[in-house]
Amino acid sequence: MTLQSSQPIGIFDSGVGGLTVAHALTSLLPQENIIYFGDVAHHPYGEKSMPAIQAYTIKICDMLLQQHCKLILIACNSASSAAYELAKEYVASKAKVVNVIDPAIDHLREHFANKHIGLIGTRQTVNSNIYKKKIDALARGIKLSSVATPLLAPMIEEGYADHIILKQTLDNYLSHVELKNIDALILACTHYPIIKKHIAAYFQHKITLIDNAEITARAVKGLLEHHHLHNQQQNAPHHKFYVSDYTESFVANAILFFPNALHFEHYPLWE
Ligand code: DGL
Repeated sequence: MTLQSSQPIGIFDSGVGGLTVAHALTSLLPQENIIYFGDVAHHPYGEKSMPAIQAYTIKICDMLLQQHCKLILIACNSASSAAYELAKEYVASKAKVVNVIDPAIDHLREHFANKHIGLIGTRQTVNSNIYKKKIDALARGIKLSSVATPLLAPMIEEGYADHIILKQTLDNYLSHVELKNIDALILACTHYPIIKKHIAAYFQHKITLIDNAEITARAVKGLLEHHHLHNQQQNAPHHKFYVSDYTESFVANAILFFPNALHFEHYPLWE
């Protein structure tokens, strides 16, 4: 099957987190049509078992293939760590599949040799050890210290991004001894760019924050251009936002990223 550059890009996450990636992508590739699926009904993925996340991922990939996506972007670290290999095998030549972890690893290889890197992410991402395995395989002398921060994504999803409760929780997590003396911190959950300013403030703006959303958007651009699949049509792009459960906080967050997004649809994937 030949992929066409005019086909849309499918992006999914457990909720609003993937919007940080979708936003970075549309800023970099304004002509691309996006189909976004927020699996709000199953949030948080970070607390689910690997087989459960794999089952969600495959069903969402199916739905995005039915919508003729040329590329499926797993805009979620938890799903990337649990289900990327499976999704890639399942989708095969029907679309390109991209995760949010490998672009970050490439970035570390290029810019952070011999540094001490911290990582915060969901339990699934941290317990999978996937970043550590990939970083060790680079053999660039990078030391990784990871801390699971499971309460952050649900708070962001609830619309608490600027609430005092979130800031106190963040202080508690970031003061973990593992994160002492780090040179940079990987935001290994796509929800975290939403609270980037609070994380930067905690570290008094002295360390680099590695934002997977921007890095992944650049990787997708490179991949599409490499395969001559970047959309060059000049008509206004068309974005669609689907959610498996319609919540007000999803819509409130989505509008922050895409003020003109009018198409929020409940997609009954699990009913
Ligand atoms: N945004 C997701 C990630 O990058 C997960 C948040 C969750 O559903 O637990 O891991």
